[in-house]
Amino acid sequence: MIARTGNARVDDARIDDERGRDGQASLSVARAATSPEIDASVGAGVASLDGAALRAAFMRQGAFVSLEPVLPPDVTRRLVEDADALLPEVNRNYLPGHKKGGSVSRHTIDRLAPTIAALYRSKPLIALLENLCGERLQICPPDDPHAYALYYYTRPGDHIGWHYDTSYYEGRRYTLLLGVMDRSSCRLDYELHTREEGVAPVPGSVRIPPGGLVFFDGDKLRHRITPLGPDEMRVSLTFEYVTDPGMRPGRRLLSNLKDAFAYFGFRQLLRGRKGQGRAA
Ligand SMILES: [Fe+2]
Repeated sequence: MIARTGNARVDDARIDDERGRDGQASLSVARAATSPEIDASVGAGVASLDGAALRAAFMRQGAFVSLEPVLPPDVTRRLVEDADALLPEVNRNYLPGHKKGGSVSRHTIDRLAPTIAALYRSKPLIALLENLCGERLQICPPDDPHAYALYYYTRPGDHIGWHYDTSYYEGRRYTLLLGVMDRSSCRLDYELHTREEGVAPVPGSVRIPPGGLVFFDGDKLRHRITPLGPDEMRVSLTFEYVTDPGMRPGRRLLSNLKDAFAYFGFRQLLRGRKGQGRAA
């Protein structure tokens, strides 16, 4: 059983562990993986998880759970390759007192990293998450630049301060954070139960190793990423899923402005609007 809430101790070498060579579905590294290939590989990776125990942990921790590497090494390797290839596309942001770092939006991922787009829609992955939260999940609409995005921590001090992943949707929005590269001392610090009346907040901290994941209700988990140290690098991937993709027009505008200023820049968002017809 690999549910956990404490510190992880897995380095990049884990990506090359035995699981990718002992008969599990394996992806070609020379081309974008198709959805059936991703589904087969992810399905094999999550098949041995104890769904009931993980669900219980998610509920006990106020809609939060952290898992040691569950993505098969071949999938994680593809994410690393895509993150590397997208380095020239990174948009840097600095909001004094809140965040510093780089991001690549789903619109750019749709153009250049279709494996990530396929992973976002992976049926075994979504089934795992639905089991955790006990709700039917939907992918975000094509105009949401945050539906899936890469975060790059490449310069000393890159970080994001304490915040919630506030949902602008009519329903709940769940965040999945996937570890891609981690040669850093960065940690996800969090506080559980902060919005539950009569329940004392519970602090915690976890490293998200390559292939590992953290899943939570964005409106419930107070969290931050601690600053990057010298000569360090970290890349993580975020997927957002919703219970109701409806959003009032004013909120969409507010959400887009926040994404443009704090994450992706106006260039990526404008490109996204032009390409919406292709980004299903
Ligand atoms: Fe966040």
